[in-house]
Amino acid sequence: MISLRHVSTTFPAARGEDPIRAVDAVSLEIPQGSIQGIIGFSGAGKSTLLRNINLLERPTAGAVHVAGTELTALDGEALRRARHHIGMIFQGFNLVNNLTVAQNVELSLKFAEVSEKAERRRRVAEALAIVDLADRAETYPAQLSGGQKQRVAIARALATRPQVLLCDEPTSALDPATTATVLQYLADVNRDLGITVVIVTHEMEVIKALADHVAVMEDGRVVERFPAAELDREDFAPRTAIGEYLAGGGIRVDRGGRAAADVAAPEQTDRAEQTEQAAAHDSHQLSEVVG
Ligand SMILES: Nc1ncnc2c1ncn2[C@@H]1O[C@H](COP(=O)(O)OP(=O)(O)O)[C@@H](O)[C@H]1O
Ligand SMILES: [Mg+2]
Repeated sequence: MISLRHVSTTFPAARGEDPIRAVDAVSLEIPQGSIQGIIGFSGAGKSTLLRNINLLERPTAGAVHVAGTELTALDGEALRRARHHIGMIFQGFNLVNNLTVAQNVELSLKFAEVSEKAERRRRVAEALAIVDLADRAETYPAQLSGGQKQRVAIARALATRPQVLLCDEPTSALDPATTATVLQYLADVNRDLGITVVIVTHEMEVIKALADHVAVMEDGRVVERFPAAELDREDFAPRTAIGEYLAGGGIRVDRGGRAAADVAAPEQTDRAEQTEQAAAHDSHQLSEVVG
């Protein structure tokens, strides 16, 4: 369904510095109807790789195929049309605050040039029903919880009836209980609608809950991949240090003779700040995504 062949993305150098190779010759085959997890620490290149799939970030080298079409061979109107088959959601939800829930969902249909108003209404209702928010259609984002906001974002992504749903840290701003709910909706969407899901996260719990296959990223490269079911095997031994850390759950520190304690990973210590940064970053991309 999704095929990445030797995909690289290099950002130009800042003054006096080297260019940043955010994605470095990644090849990945993602079968139709599967859930692919991509995990790694902050800065590993996960978001860039995800944005390479819908060409929100055009790779500087390599080829991207989605549903039999080589996206990297397209531009302009043809690329825009191909992107309608690919939905995307973000850590920061990216809802438009002065539009109702229904209007937020309808936005993606307007960008997709679904010109008939009655058809747009039908599809908005259909998408909101999938995430069980039909009764919140006329409310505004400010009246919703974080989990509900993310469900609206899922509805907005589904309204154009995509074949692929790209998820960039979709639960990183949510508490564990809400995370479970949102992941359940993503699992249902995958199972009931057959949508191929790619989910980027730094949380192994998310991968364990949802993914069929895992790719571990470090320094722009996929350094390890395995079926997610391996994580349940007691004798499973990731090949890389980062894979081991991610599978093992927790940094271990020596507290001067006391038993080593699990502490939170660095990325999780300042969730609010991270969320804010991600939201600011995401909002730049909203018009492109819903377009
Ligand atoms: N638009 C950009 N311009 C320059 N550098 C970027 C840009 N986007 C990401 N980077 C850099 O690319 C690397 C990978 O970033 P990113 O894909 O956001 O990683 P992750 O999502 O795993 O945290 C980082 O070093 C980041 O600073
Ligand atoms: Mg990221």
